[in-house]
Amino acid sequence: MRTKLIAGNWKMNGTLADNELLCKSIRTGLAGVDASQGTSVVLCAPSVYLSQLQSCLAGSSTIHLGSQDVSSHDKGAFTGEISTAMLKEFGVRYAIVGHSERRQYHGETDAVVALKAKAALAAGITPIVCVGESLAEREAGLTNDVVRRQLAAVIHENGHCISEIVVAYEPVWAIGTGKTATPEMAQAVHSVLRAQLHAASSVAAERVQILYGGSMNAANAASLLAMADIDGGLIGGAALRAADFLSIIASAK
Ligand code: 13P
Repeated sequence: MRTKLIAGNWKMNGTLADNELLCKSIRTGLAGVDASQGTSVVLCAPSVYLSQLQSCLAGSSTIHLGSQDVSSHDKGAFTGEISTAMLKEFGVRYAIVGHSERRQYHGETDAVVALKAKAALAAGITPIVCVGESLAEREAGLTNDVVRRQLAAVIHENGHCISEIVVAYEPVWAIGTGKTATPEMAQAVHSVLRAQLHAASSVAAERVQILYGGSMNAANAASLLAMADIDGGLIGGAALRAADFLSIIASAK
């Protein structure tokens, strides 16, 4: 039985003051929630704020720290990059890799994303591997091909570790647009991804949490999270509002 995972991707948002308020409100809101109830929560903050968030989350067993990216390299002449070892110094447990915004604006290929997942796994950081099709790809009937191709690269590079990843299905056309995939549309793609994991490893198919992301909010979370293969959410805009984020967490039963 897979537990639920609700991850907030703050993207390039926040200030010291806003983060303090948001983090404290989420902590307070979850104060009575026991980790044994199952749902894990991850906050993926901009890297410069990881230290701040590490302090804010100290002692929490339910809320974990995540980064929005990670380098595939260990160290050296990679200006602007952040290594797994650096992230670990700040208590980072999860790293988003291959977000569509990184693929689109920073030219990250399937191969690069697979290497980032590999670096994270080697360091004991759980990669949240994002896959998803554009509107043009969906309209051309290519959704399954695209997400399969993206996941295949990660499976190929990470073979025996594949049960340690988290997958996030984020249709690009649903991100930040207010257009959510219906629960049935999302479930259809999640089941394709589950089958692909199964072909790689039955353990992975059983264990790997597949999150949905793309305009998930307090109003639509419960119906998405009720689907058989939707094991959580990767939340953008609604994760910046404590009440909305807490409400999404509450719908993850
Ligand atoms: P929104 O929830 O703002 O659509 O963003 C989703 C996302 O990209 C999370 O990684």
